Amino acid sequence: MTIITSPQDFNTDDLYVDLEPVVGNTLFLKVEGLNFAGSVKLKAASAMVEAAEADGTLRPGAILVESSSGNLGIALSMIAAAKGYGFVCVTDSRCNLATRRLMESLGAEVHVITEPDPEHGLLGARLDHVRDLLASDDRHVWLNQYTNPNSWKAHYDTTGPQIAAQFPDVDVIFIGAGTTGTLMGTARYFADHHPHVRIVAVDSVGSVSFGTPAARRMIPGLGMAVRPPLLDQTVIDEVVHVEEADTIRTCHRLARTGFLFGGSTGTVVTAAEAWLAEHATPGTTAVAIAPDLGERYMDTIYQSHWVEDLYGDLTADTDDTGAFAAIAA
Ligand SMILES: Cc1ncc(COP(=O)(O)O)c(C=O)c1O
Repeated sequence: MTIITSPQDFNTDDLYVDLEPVVGNTLFLKVEGLNFAGSVKLKAASAMVEAAEADGTLRPGAILVESSSGNLGIALSMIAAAKGYGFVCVTDSRCNLATRRLMESLGAEVHVITEPDPEHGLLGARLDHVRDLLASDDRHVWLNQYTNPNSWKAHYDTTGPQIAAQFPDVDVIFIGAGTTGTLMGTARYFADHHPHVRIVAVDSVGSVSFGTPAARRMIPGLGMAVRPPLLDQTVIDEVVHVEEADTIRTCHRLARTGFLFGGSTGTVVTAAEAWLAEHATPGTTAVAIAPDLGERYMDTIYQSHWVEDLYGDLTADTDDTGAFAAIAA
């Protein structure tokens, strides 16, 4: 039996889905969405809040402010409610309605930015708004998920060791890159303790994180419009970019096996499947990280009109195998 008093006290760090029947190679998918925040971002949010409390930055009466496209915002809404802090989440028009409602239900104030900064896009406009908030009220505290080292340290202390303990023979790990907290913490853990394990970063086509050109991206979670400050490519072996249409196809395919995952999981599994089809040898053990589940995407990835409007008819037979592109890190 597990009894908790605060929602952040519960997390599942040892659940994996065997995806061999789906992808045809040995692939274990680490499920990070089974906690009260519903995503991997609970780890970063808890670590950043605890560190800020410990160093005195975060005191009773404080109001957290953060720029988030969703999942970190939900995790911080939950922790702020549990600990009695205020929270203002600065997001943009790509934030799912369900995500926004979730944050508001947990007591957060949500500011939706609709006008991109001419040079730095929606993210730039969001960060400007955060700076304005900080200047307007000295109770505001910005943990800054884009630069806060406690975000990657959370994964160095939990995700990395957990995978190593469960899969001592792991050969390759596929990790999606947003702020790159998950990627950096896990990659650094393996670089320090099991350097032979191959780390494959997964990003969306249209993200500039690894130096490829910007383009439209509609699925939140992975990808950045600016280079992620936390990113250190020396601990990554390879990068795979995935088209959003392929992400959606994979989400739908997984859903038809009974597993409803979020968009970034579709992206990571697409990359892993393609990579393993090319590189796996008998006995290759692969792990991929699934950042959240699918319920948050009912109005987007799992809504046929939204999908058709943006990507056309994805059920049409296509032999478009140029959909994923691998580049050396
Ligand atoms: C659904 C989802 N996937 C992946 C990520 C990327 O995680 P990270 O910011 O640690 O790179 C996020 C981050 O918000 C997310 O919400």
